[in-house]
Amino acid sequence: MKRYVSASILNSDLLHLADEISRLEQAEVDMLHFDVMDGIFVPNISFGIPVLQAVAKQSRLFMDVHLMIARPHLYIADFARSGANMITFHLESESDPAETIRMIHEAGCKAGISVKPGTPGEAVLPYIDQVENILIMTVEPGFGGQSFMYDMTEKVRLVRNAVGERPVFVQVDGGINADTVGAAVEAGADLLVAGSYLFTHPDMKAAVQTLRK
Ligand code: DX5
Ligand code: ZN
Repeated sequence: MKRYVSASILNSDLLHLADEISRLEQAEVDMLHFDVMDGIFVPNISFGIPVLQAVAKQSRLFMDVHLMIARPHLYIADFARSGANMITFHLESESDPAETIRMIHEAGCKAGISVKPGTPGEAVLPYIDQVENILIMTVEPGFGGQSFMYDMTEKVRLVRNAVGERPVFVQVDGGINADTVGAAVEAGADLLVAGSYLFTHPDMKAAVQTLRK
């Protein structure tokens, strides 16, 4: 199975974001992972629509937007207009999943649905034929730099078995690095989010290749 790397800029040097994005492009990442947090759905606040606009203008990379916000359906059109290519929201949010997926497609983006560690994988299966991405969180959402939860690999396997050959990404997010990527991929993940691993590695391009190989 082909693997894709989506780079999370949450733990990048935000004062020099343009340079960080150039480094990611030169390292040949497949996507840019844009983590939006509202301080309500998760206990942290990151960045939002104006920053996405600036980033999308600067980069030709595919914009993989991860909404960790309480009411995603209210902001789908704004994120789509601001340059999102794929919008993934949480099943645990207050928004109606089927309606939110419909709104994402109507806005011209690929749609993804995500589950936190405490939510069973079975919960996303009713949406499997409506989405292009299923994101299994491998840390509690809210912060970069946390440790990969190995017990999430069984959830990845369950979702991969259900997805089969459908054109749906099985995405993992949190704690992905050279040591943990093997377990995620073996369980069936093909879209790998990495943040701190890429930004702390002395050779970003080699780090990307390690994840993809
Ligand atoms: C966590 C975010 C992740 C995070 C990944 O809430 O959704 O995308 O930034 O960062 P690392 O790779 O450092 O765990
Ligand atoms: Zn994320």
